[in-house]
Amino acid sequence: MNSTAVILAAGKGTRMHSDKPKVLQTVLGDPMLRHVREALRPEFGDRVFIVVGHRADMVEAAFAGERFVHQTEQLGTGHALMQALPGLRADACEMVLVVNGDTPLLRAETVAHFMKEAEGADLAFATISLDEPGAYGRVVRDDEGHVSAIVEAKDYDMSRYGAPTGEVNAGMYAIRLSLAEALLPRLSNANRSGEYYITDLVGLAVAEGRDVRGVQCGSDESLMGVNSPRELAQAEESMRAFVVEGLLDKGVLLHAPALVRVSPRATIEAGAELSGPCDVLGSCHVERGARIEAYCSLRDSHVASGAEIRPYCHLEQARVGEGALVGPYARLRPGAVLERDSHVGNFVELKKARLGVGSKANHLTYLGDAEIGAGVNIGAGTITCNYDGKNKHRTTIEDGAFIGSNTALVAPVTVGKECLVGAGSVITHDVPAGELAVARGKQKNLPRRK
Ligand code: UD1
Ligand code: CA
Repeated sequence: MNSTAVILAAGKGTRMHSDKPKVLQTVLGDPMLRHVREALRPEFGDRVFIVVGHRADMVEAAFAGERFVHQTEQLGTGHALMQALPGLRADACEMVLVVNGDTPLLRAETVAHFMKEAEGADLAFATISLDEPGAYGRVVRDDEGHVSAIVEAKDYDMSRYGAPTGEVNAGMYAIRLSLAEALLPRLSNANRSGEYYITDLVGLAVAEGRDVRGVQCGSDESLMGVNSPRELAQAEESMRAFVVEGLLDKGVLLHAPALVRVSPRATIEAGAELSGPCDVLGSCHVERGARIEAYCSLRDSHVASGAEIRPYCHLEQARVGEGALVGPYARLRPGAVLERDSHVGNFVELKKARLGVGSKANHLTYLGDAEIGAGVNIGAGTITCNYDGKNKHRTTIEDGAFIGSNTALVAPVTVGKECLVGAGSVITHDVPAGELAVARGKQKNLPRRK
């Protein structure tokens, strides 16, 4: 059936005690909202609206390219959905899937299962069973087990509804657009929070004799809502453990697995080896036979087979080629590319720089906006001076060159093939292939004054 999804993400998240909108709080390196968005992708593709309100600018900036709906005042989840009606109409969808933006553990399979169970219903919502219903909306069923309402925790009156069963509303709904159009204007905010609750649609639809289903999704923690720092930590730990289990099942070698944090977006091949504590976040790809040692933090980086990342390295948008050695204590910033069998040692930083096949930069070096050929040796303390205060300039070092220690290469500059640059030089002009360049004050030995 023709359906569109709406993610509710306009709330402030008061209970999080943070200036950042709640849905931008991260779980394994990605905002909660991103996890929710990705879980909807297989079923909905681009047919998704995100309702934003509190610090909408920040959410929109973090999710460029998505379709947003504005809820300027956060008057409740029902009011939030109402703001999406014009967009949904324009999409000409029949069914609307609504999901809270604070359910980062949501999985595509859970969405698919729920949509299947909701097929043909006028309104369906996912429920989970908890020992302790906490702050979740309670599901009320009649004697025959048919859903009659969702009652929010604050508004739950034991004398009226009896003791809660532990079945609660998970915050995912499927509703016929025509029904949403008819019922949303009828929501009232006469409740403890003074908000228009999406959950009241259930009671209204039941009263109209519609097909309303509470789809039991077990005690599936993939539907856990995150409202507080404690719940954020729980969700993150739960996702971490889930990803680690998957890696072990697949054949990834893990040391101290309880301290390995891998994003569900990362791909780690069987036979790769990771030592905790380490972070492998974003869209990292680690090939079979690559090793990531302890205390490393990688983001959106590629590590090829046989490469070794020694302890205490930071990689971001970097590519490490086959058999390359990195660290300990190296920093590879965006655009760092290490070709096959190259070495980068301690306190070496690369940014937008390519280090050619078998080349080495082993100690205390900055290589920025640089193209370095094969078989090059970069001495300790070499700096590419790539920034003149206004613009960035490139440094090129051709195959087989040898750069002596403590050299400053003032870009733009090219050091040709097989050149030798004397230690302590400040190189401001190109060095033609095969030549020796020395650019430093000559040593004078004078009698010492007494
Ligand atoms: C909501 C449900 C509750 C359910 C729980 C599941 C309501 C009234 N209650 O409670 O039954 O058990 O989720 O996790 O819906 N939002 C907006 N605009 C608003 C208010 C909220 O977009 O005006 C968004 C929030 O950003 C959040 C989501 O809606 O992503 C849910 O809001 P939240 O305040 O967290 O609802 P809960 O109290 O958790
Ligand atoms: Ca919530």
